Amino acid sequence: MTRTVLVTGGGTGIGKAVAAAFLAGGDHVIITGRRPEVLSSAAEELEGALTTVVCDATDPEQLEALRGRLPDVVDVLVNNAGGNREFDGAPPSDLRGLAERWRANLDANLLGAVLTTAAVDKLLGPGGAVVNIGSFAADRGAGSYGAAKAAMNTWNIFLAGQLGPRGVTCNVVAPGYIDSTEFFRDRRSAAFHEERVAETLVGRAGRPEDVADVVRFIASPAARHITGQVLRVDGGVIPTR
Ligand SMILES: NC(=O)c1ccc[n+]([C@@H]2O[C@H](COP(=O)([O-])OP(=O)(O)OC[C@H]3O[C@@H](n4cnc5c(N)ncnc54)[C@H](OP(=O)(O)O)[C@@H]3O)[C@@H](O)[C@H]2O)c1
Repeated sequence: MTRTVLVTGGGTGIGKAVAAAFLAGGDHVIITGRRPEVLSSAAEELEGALTTVVCDATDPEQLEALRGRLPDVVDVLVNNAGGNREFDGAPPSDLRGLAERWRANLDANLLGAVLTTAAVDKLLGPGGAVVNIGSFAADRGAGSYGAAKAAMNTWNIFLAGQLGPRGVTCNVVAPGYIDSTEFFRDRRSAAFHEERVAETLVGRAGRPEDVADVVRFIASPAARHITGQVLRVDGGVIPTR
C-alpha cells in the first residue's frame, strides 16, 4: 500500500535519509524546508515519488499554505525540522540575548513540531503515525536545546493520548551523535568526533540511515501497538535498565 509521508526538514541529513527510506518502500514523500535550493538539490538526488514544498515549520501562515497543498490523507508525519540554535553566533552577553536563544530553540525544536502536527491533524487517519525527532540531549542537560527536546518528549505523550483513539501512534525517535549532517556546522573537529564516538557502546558515530530505518519501522504496521515512547538511536550512550 502506498502511503503519503510528510517529512519536515527533509532536504538534508536525517530528514533526507528518512525521505529516501520511505521512497525506497514505494511511498509518496513530501519534504519541506526553508531553503528552496536545498530542496531542489535533494529532489535531484532522491529517486521516487517526491514532492518538495518550501515551508518554515514555525510559521503558521506557511503551514496553512502547506496544508492547502497536501492530499486528503497524510499517513505519516515526521517532525524532523530542528537543530541547535545555540550554535548560531556568539554566546549571549545579556538577558535579551539569552531570551532570544531560548525562544529560538523552543521555536525550532518544539513549536515547529506542535504547529505542523496541528496543521495536518485532520488529515491523519487510522493506521497513521506521527514520529517526532528528539535527541539524547533531552536527557543530558544541554541547555535550551536539550530543554526543548525534553519538552517534545512530554508533549509526545499528550499527543499520543489525543490521537490514539483515532488509531494514530505518536513516538519520539531520539538520535545520539549523528555525523554527516549539517547539524554541527563547522564544530566537528577530529577531537570532537572522537570524544562522541568514545561515549558509544558500538564505537562509531550514528549515520542518518540508522535513524531513518527506526523511523520507518515505528511508522509501520509492525509497530502499531507502540505509542507514547522515546526510542533512542544513540549507539548505547544512554542505556535503558
Ligand atoms: N545530527 C545529530 O547529531 C542529531 C542528534 C540528535 C538530534 N538531531 C535532530 O535531528 C533533526 C535533523 O537534524 P540533522 O542532524 O539532520 O541536521 P540538519 O542537516 O541541519 O537538518 C535539519 C533540517 O531541518 C531544516 N529546518 C530547520 N529549521 C526548519 C524550520 N523552521 N522549518 C523547516 N525546516 C527547517 C533544515 O533546512 P533549512 O535550513 O533549509 O530549513 C535542514 O534541512 C533535528 O531535529 C535535530 O535536532 C540531530
